[in-house]
Amino acid sequence: MTWPDTRRSAALRKKFAAALDPEHDTGWADAFAAVPRHVFVPRFYTQADDRSWRKVYLGDPGYLETVYSDQALTTQLDDHGIPTSSSSEPALMLAMLNALDARDGDTVFELGTGTGYNAALLSHRLGDNNVTSLDVDAELVKAAAQRLEQAGYRPFVTTGDGARGWPQRAPYTRVIATAALRAVPAAFLDQAAPGAVIVAPIGYGVLRATVTAPGHATGRFLPTPAHFMPRRTPATAPAFDAARSVGPTDTKVAPGHVLDHMRFPLSIALPGHSSCSWRDDDGELTAVGLWTEDGSTATAHVSGAVRQVGPRRLWDVVEDLAATFDAVPRRDEFRVTITPSRQTVWYKAPNGPAWELPGGGTS
Ligand SMILES: C[S@@+](CC[C@H](N)C(=O)[O-])C[C@H]1O[C@@H](n2cnc3c(N)ncnc32)[C@H](O)[C@@H]1O
Repeated sequence: MTWPDTRRSAALRKKFAAALDPEHDTGWADAFAAVPRHVFVPRFYTQADDRSWRKVYLGDPGYLETVYSDQALTTQLDDHGIPTSSSSEPALMLAMLNALDARDGDTVFELGTGTGYNAALLSHRLGDNNVTSLDVDAELVKAAAQRLEQAGYRPFVTTGDGARGWPQRAPYTRVIATAALRAVPAAFLDQAAPGAVIVAPIGYGVLRATVTAPGHATGRFLPTPAHFMPRRTPATAPAFDAARSVGPTDTKVAPGHVLDHMRFPLSIALPGHSSCSWRDDDGELTAVGLWTEDGSTATAHVSGAVRQVGPRRLWDVVEDLAATFDAVPRRDEFRVTITPSRQTVWYKAPNGPAWELPGGGTS
C-alpha cells in the first residue's frame, strides 16, 4: 500500500520536511510534512552518464530516499527524450511558496499542475476551494486529479494554457507559475485582485511582483537560481548550416562565459533562446551555439571565431552583457516594472541597464 503511509515513508517525509525548513519559520513545514510526495511521483526518470533515461518505480531500491530528498524529479519525457514535466526541487518550491506569502483566505492560481504536488501543498495550506491549477497536458491533469483525490485533496484542476489564466474563478490574490515564462502573461494581471502577489520563473530567475494598479505591477527577482522547463511552444531548429557559410568575426568573450556567468541575464536579454555546446573527446568545451525562434543563430568557437545569421545578431547581445557585467550579477539586483503596454527588467537603478520583455499576453 502506498497511501496511507508505510512507517518508512512517514519517517522519511518527516525528516525531509524538517531538513527543508529546520527553524519551522516559513509556515510551509506542516504542508511538506503532511503531503505525500510519493503519491504524486509514483515513478520518475534518472539519467545515466550516457544520457539514457531509466525509470525508477515506487518499491525500487532508493526510490523513497530520492523522493524524500531535495531533488527535482523528471516525470515525463517527449519522443526525443526531452523532459516535459517534473516535480521541482522542494527547496525551490518552498522558496517560491514562501515568496508567494499566501495567507488564510487567499485564492491561488497555478500555471503548471504537473504531478499535482504543489497544488496539494497549496490545498493543504489554503483549502481546496482556494486553489485553481492548470496544465496544458490533459494526461498530466487526469493523473494529477487522481493522485490529489487519493491523497485527500480536491483543488480545481483543469486542462488549458495557463498563460490565459482561468477567468471563471478570478480574481486571484496569489498567482504562481511553475513553468518558465518569457514575461508575465497579461491574463495574470487581468485576473489578479488588487495587491495580488505574482511569483513566476522568468528566464533562469524567479520574479516576485506585486500588483499595484490594474495592469501594473512592480517586483524583483528572488536570489535563488531557477531552471524550469519552458512553457510549451513550437520549437525552432537552429540555423547552424547557414552560420557555417558566413565569414567569422572575432570575439574577446569566452564561449564558456555564456554558459556560466551570463546564463541569467542572457535569459532576460534573449527571452526563450536556446543554447548548446560542443566538446572535444576530452570533454573540453570547443564552441557554443545560441538560437531564437525568429531563426537567428550564432556560434562562438573558443578560438574567438563567431558566426551570426538571421534577423538578430545574438552574439552582439552577449558582448553587450559581458561589457555590463564583469562578474556574475546577483538576481535580486534585477527589478521589474510592469505596465499594460510594457514589461521592463532593470538592473540596480531605473536608469541603469534595462531590457524589455516580450509582450505580456503573448509570452
Ligand atoms: C515543472 S512542471 C510543474 C510542476 C508542478 N507544479 C508539480 O508540483 O508537479 C511544469 C509544468 O508546466 C506545464 N506547462 C507547460 N506549459 C504550460 C502552459 N502553457 N500552461 C499550463 N501548463 C503548462 C508542463 O506540462 C509541466 O507539467
